[in-house]
Amino acid sequence: MQARQVRAADPAPISYADDIAPIFKGRCISCHQPGGEGFEKSGLDLTTYAGLMKGTKFGLMVIPGSPDTCNLMWLLDWQASAELRMPHGKKQLSSCDRDTIRSWIREGAKDN
Ligand code: HEC
Repeated sequence: MQARQVRAADPAPISYADDIAPIFKGRCISCHQPGGEGFEKSGLDLTTYAGLMKGTKFGLMVIPGSPDTCNLMWLLDWQASAELRMPHGKKQLSSCDRDTIRSWIREGAKDN
């Protein structure tokens, strides 16, 4: 809990390029790039900011400013059914990584 408070008080904005993209790169794009299993099934390309914001063929995954209602966090927090949890069949993202993504969305999900 304490770590979360420290992060919330931290004035430095989260950067897509420095903080978010590396998480997706390390944990997601093996499946979520053209030709990958996740991309083929859902249409979600996580290799670029544009791809992330475009979402899947079913709809938007990120709602800027609203991390608590967006599908992305719902899947990453494993609130979805087991077959839909991301990353598929792998270890859950650390709460630290998830908090980083959450804060970035809360700050407006900018291409910064
Ligand atoms: C091992 C392959 C794999 C990895 C790694 C993976 N995904 Fe997926 N992802 C899939 C597949 C396959 C689907 C298609 C939906 C399904 O099969 O249920 C999908 C679908 C999705 C969807 C759309 C779900 C929907 O409701 O349509 C999102 C969002 C998503 N992935 C995010 C991520 C994120 C973020 C990561 C990294 C933390 C990640 N995925 C890692 C395979 C993967």
